[in-house]
Amino acid sequence: MASVNVARQSWIPWASPAARNLRPAGHAHLTHAFFGTLPRLGSVAETLPRSQIRMVMERAWAMERAGRKIFHLEVGQPDLAPPGVALEACKAALDDPVALRYCPNAGERETRQIIADVLQQKTGCPTALENIVVSVGVNGGITLVLSAIFDVDDEILVPDPFWPNVDMAAKLFKARPIRYRLPSSRGFLPNIEELQRLITSRTKALYVCSPSNPTGKVIPQAMMDSLIRMCMDHGIFLISDEIYGDIVFDKNHFTSCLSFPDMTEAAEHVIWLGGVSKAHAMTGFRVGFVRAPQRVVPILEKNQEGLLSCGVPFAQRGAAMALKVDQSFMENTIATYRRRRDLVVDALAEAGLQVPHRLKPDGAFYMLVPCAPAGPDCSEEVALTLLEEKGVACAPGGGFGREAENFLRLSFATSDEDVLEGARRLAHFLLGRDATQWWPSNSS
Ligand SMILES: Cc1ncc(COP(=O)(O)O)c(C=O)c1O
Repeated sequence: MASVNVARQSWIPWASPAARNLRPAGHAHLTHAFFGTLPRLGSVAETLPRSQIRMVMERAWAMERAGRKIFHLEVGQPDLAPPGVALEACKAALDDPVALRYCPNAGERETRQIIADVLQQKTGCPTALENIVVSVGVNGGITLVLSAIFDVDDEILVPDPFWPNVDMAAKLFKARPIRYRLPSSRGFLPNIEELQRLITSRTKALYVCSPSNPTGKVIPQAMMDSLIRMCMDHGIFLISDEIYGDIVFDKNHFTSCLSFPDMTEAAEHVIWLGGVSKAHAMTGFRVGFVRAPQRVVPILEKNQEGLLSCGVPFAQRGAAMALKVDQSFMENTIATYRRRRDLVVDALAEAGLQVPHRLKPDGAFYMLVPCAPAGPDCSEEVALTLLEEKGVACAPGGGFGREAENFLRLSFATSDEDVLEGARRLAHFLLGRDATQWWPSNSS
């Protein structure tokens, strides 16, 4: 152990990185003798799996650098422009010194008030500034919420298939994500009885995402109401990730958790997450919103200080204005993603691969497409072969959970031309793998 202490003495010449290179050749063993055991990393962080979306994306970028044309259907990065009013507000904020400094942990008061007003108007749920925290993206909102509610080994129910970041965040807080099934045979929807059986004395929250990444499915109103009642009965939180809540192809189909008929009592159980990254195409602004019970908000504020201090005030001003964007902006966004969903569905159908109704997305800009018959998961191999042979990048379904094994996740957040050509190539590729033999039907 003496060698560890010696290595920490900066006056020892070979303890500095530059001096290490000066050591005579053949003395590599000195590293151990003088620098001791390497510091250990966290065991949870080390064992977290790498994002499969990133893995495909990086391979695709390497192919592009080598001159190949790639059709990017792997990543949820909207190609549309953010609303002009948001950009103007953000630019104007750059001339205000206040917006260039730390802001309150929960975000600027004006921004919080705008969010509260817009939410109340949209959902009918009474919402005050004191219910709102502005986070660094919805991702930052999830981290913040989990930091407030978890002790070691507490449990959170997360869907399978799931958006991997929630699972990751829970594990980083040493909590245990417990998967509930959203099987494709059920249109990727939950079953209340199954969920109830998973609730234990350690369960703190149920996480839902509607419209969903990766399935594009929307939780119908009656089911959302039952989920809220279940959470109330069991004394747990419902964390509802509605980042895609504005991208819904049939408006009547989607209900926010905040539209629950009797919010007076339910509001103590419901934590709503939303933002501007997706429907407003503002991923780089890193602004998200949390609506939480007033007793929880001070904890979120406090934890925000420990995690990130605060968000970025000039970006928050842009995001607040984005919420006031006129109706035509959102209509155009919805029409664009609906058209692209149809381009994919029609391209597959033209090749004889009719997409069963239960797999067809109701919102967001994702779709799970079957890529192999039932059996051991081969979605990674299929995704890499598809990329190599056809230049189409898709995310392997296995990275989203067992229920998405042998599926590919397509994102249609890219140009119509690339979505159409990518879908045609995918259809051709699947036919080459005997898709007509194993493709699901409406009844299977
Ligand atoms: C379900 C879901 N929630 C949250 C996020 C992250 O949103 P943000 O970029 O605002 O952090 C994503 C991003 O892909 C997502 O798919």
